[in-house]
Amino acid sequence: MKVQYFLIIYTYCDMGYFACSYTLIFVWEAGSVSMNKIIEVRDLVKHFEITSTKGLNKSYVKAVDGVSFDILEGETLGLVGESGCGKSTTGRLILRLIKPTSGEIFLEGKNINDISEKELRRIRKDIQVVFQNPYSALDPNMTIEDIISEPLSIHKIVFKYDYDKEVKRLLSLVGLSEKDAKKFPHEFSGGQRQRIGIARAIATRPKFIICDEPVSALDVSVQSQILNLLDDLQKELKVSYLFIAHGLNVIRHVSNKVGVMYLGKIVEMGNVEEIFNNPVHPYTKALLSSAPIPDPFSHREKELLEGEIPSPVSPPSGCSFHPRCRYAMGICSEKKPFLQNINENHKISCHLIDSGFDFKGVLA
Ligand SMILES: Nc1ncnc2c1ncn2[C@@H]1O[C@H](COP(=O)(O)OP(=O)(O)OP(=O)(O)O)[C@@H](O)[C@H]1O
Ligand code: SF4
Ligand SMILES: [Mg+2]
Repeated sequence: MKVQYFLIIYTYCDMGYFACSYTLIFVWEAGSVSMNKIIEVRDLVKHFEITSTKGLNKSYVKAVDGVSFDILEGETLGLVGESGCGKSTTGRLILRLIKPTSGEIFLEGKNINDISEKELRRIRKDIQVVFQNPYSALDPNMTIEDIISEPLSIHKIVFKYDYDKEVKRLLSLVGLSEKDAKKFPHEFSGGQRQRIGIARAIATRPKFIICDEPVSALDVSVQSQILNLLDDLQKELKVSYLFIAHGLNVIRHVSNKVGVMYLGKIVEMGNVEEIFNNPVHPYTKALLSSAPIPDPFSHREKELLEGEIPSPVSPPSGCSFHPRCRYAMGICSEKKPFLQNINENHKISCHLIDSGFDFKGVLA
């Protein structure tokens, strides 16, 4: 938020009497809230080298191919796209579990690409992850107390004699009981295990959490409880999320901004209302069309996705969506489109922008 100070000096003359009065005015600019950028990703690329079985030929899986975005303090960016489009790889790159082929990642303005191991350990405190599978994410031989105190000890969050108190505080924050501290993971349901995973993630008081499909392994009835918990924690802790999911309803529920990925690239990005109420990129429209509609009498026109996802080893030339796109033109197989603003809250990467295409047609 921004506060401006104005100093106004009044001078007037009245029958030879001269006076000055100074007034200090504080202007609270409520409309221009400027939030900190927590994460900045610039032109991020990850090409995995693969060798043929005989070891003769090298090729590359273009898992992430030039991705850029910002995530502000307390904000959630939802990342959505078909299986294999590079969502988890993007998350693993930010976590620095793998090194990028090129591109840059900034945490609160600090470039975290080429930092020392010591600095990396320190940064791991600020960036945490909640994984998809709550069954494999927790060590079955550790008690919940040990699982949650491990990051407290690694990152020296509290004194050792306070571990007990802190574990209980964290368990209560995620809706579990103090008594659960002495139990083992197998004594809990999937939803409860995911709560333990979340307690462990927030133990280091991170600025940023990557949630990689955190509810897809859970029953539908439990999913909304976990989503509401993540939402409550965000409000309380001012943490930012990168939220990866297949389910469009989940993405819509949790995100402020949405990035739609296709074959390693973001093809459409915008605030959540823009993406869901006003999708423009032909891939986004098809993706939204393929989502189930709760209303059985809805007459929404379907733009179904046709054909298979091409291999990320040799993606199609030009716009990699062109073999599946019903709007494809000559230029689409020749030239790569790039992300361009269609308004201040919405970008797409599509040649339709430059073709003079009537977007109302696409939006119908
Ligand atoms: N270590 C690796 N070596 C080679 N290829 C990899 C490696 N990790 C991921 N890939 C490939 O990179 C591409 C992107 O994978 P990624 O896991 O990021 O996709 P995703 O969008 O998370 O998919 P899903 O929705 O199924 O989880 C896939 O083609 C995948 O097979
Ligand atoms: S660039 Fe061409 S092929 Fe790609 S989405 Fe736009 S219209 Fe379709
Ligand atoms: Mg994944």
